[in-house]
Amino acid sequence: MPHDFMPGLAGIPAARSAVSDVDGEKGILEYRGIRVEELCDRSSFLETAYLLLFCRLPTKSVLMQWEQDIIHHRRVKYSIIDFMKCLPEQGHPMDALQAAVAALGMFYPGRNVTDVENNYWSAVRLIAKLPTIVAAWARLRHGDDVISPRDDLGFSENFFYMLTETVPHPLWADIFDDCLILHAEHTMNASTFTGLVTASTLADPYTVVASSIGALKGPLHGGANEEVLQMLREIGEPDRVKGYVEERLENKKRLMGFGHRVYKVKDPRAIVLQGLCKKLVSTCGTSQLYNIALQVEHTAAKWLNGKGIYPNVDFYSGIIYDKMNIDVDLFTPIFAMARVTGWLAHWLEQLRENKLFRPDQIYAGEHNLPYVPLDQR
Ligand SMILES: CC(C)(COP(=O)(O)OP(=O)(O)OC[C@H]1O[C@@H](n2cnc3c(N)ncnc32)[C@H](O)[C@@H]1OP(=O)(O)O)[C@@H](O)C(=O)NCCC(=O)NCCS
Repeated sequence: MPHDFMPGLAGIPAARSAVSDVDGEKGILEYRGIRVEELCDRSSFLETAYLLLFCRLPTKSVLMQWEQDIIHHRRVKYSIIDFMKCLPEQGHPMDALQAAVAALGMFYPGRNVTDVENNYWSAVRLIAKLPTIVAAWARLRHGDDVISPRDDLGFSENFFYMLTETVPHPLWADIFDDCLILHAEHTMNASTFTGLVTASTLADPYTVVASSIGALKGPLHGGANEEVLQMLREIGEPDRVKGYVEERLENKKRLMGFGHRVYKVKDPRAIVLQGLCKKLVSTCGTSQLYNIALQVEHTAAKWLNGKGIYPNVDFYSGIIYDKMNIDVDLFTPIFAMARVTGWLAHWLEQLRENKLFRPDQIYAGEHNLPYVPLDQR
């Protein structure tokens, strides 16, 4: 049956899913029917992860068990650390993360994805170990020792501890946890779709997550937050914003961190992140980048808002991480630490009614050509 070709599969549903939903006209994002703003206000990243994976909020005892299971599986085998030591230290942390996650699967050979219990432990291991791998690489590449996780620290606190050997200010840990919630899931995006294609072959979840990490790495997907920070740094000071923005837009160049395929109003995640930025600078001192960002949003409004273009999730997140002294190239790996929950939620959902992805194509080549011998070409 012939179909029209839709580049990028734009507008073509690739799954029937109850994990999350976006209303791009109203600016609403819900995880399992609960708005992200409410989850940021009242939940934690790990509780939200449970909600995404297992379809409901956990009871108190289930949540305690879930948190304990994650704590128990944070450590990574020394062979994984040894393996990472062999990677070139100037390599991008996303490449190190992808390689380490692919290698991780070799240590956990239970690959039968029809085993529900095995799948639970795979999800626990992946969510628990990604931050350990990211922090380990961040230290190894500077020649520093890897810091083991601390069982008495929460998910976000422990990540900072493994990164810096310091327990962070509680406000930092809270804000970081909210950032993870906001990045945990976002319907059928490129990395989720990639993971689902891999998963449809009944590949193990380590392979599924490694392929999703590969898709997230690209600048059109997870990499945009790095570019926003570079743009804000290039502007340098609030006085230069007007000239910079106008010059770019007059010349039909894009402003990084603006626009979205689905949202035609301000991305709800950008609204929460802007609030978090404000809270962070009012407690921990001003941020020049934040002041510049506010000016950029203000100046761009009269050019772009009429076209439905507003700040997206990437516009304010990098400013928060920068204020927390996190290296720019760790922004996307942090995105992966959060989004692994969404990937796994879609994976579990798909397994219930799995069908191998095998799309069609529209052949645009020739037929019946003769083979020309090498000496006659
Ligand atoms: C995210 C993005 C790819 C979505 O694009 P899209 O929905 O396919 O929209 P289009 O590329 O068709 O652009 C539609 C119009 O909006 C304009 N536009 C879109 N994003 C813009 C931006 N960031 N800055 C300036 N203009 C923008 C386009 O120039 C185009 O204008 P025109 O109709 O006058 O030609 C796009 O907004 C973008 O490149 N943003 C910057 C990168 C970014 O922040 N990515 C992270 C996304 S979460």
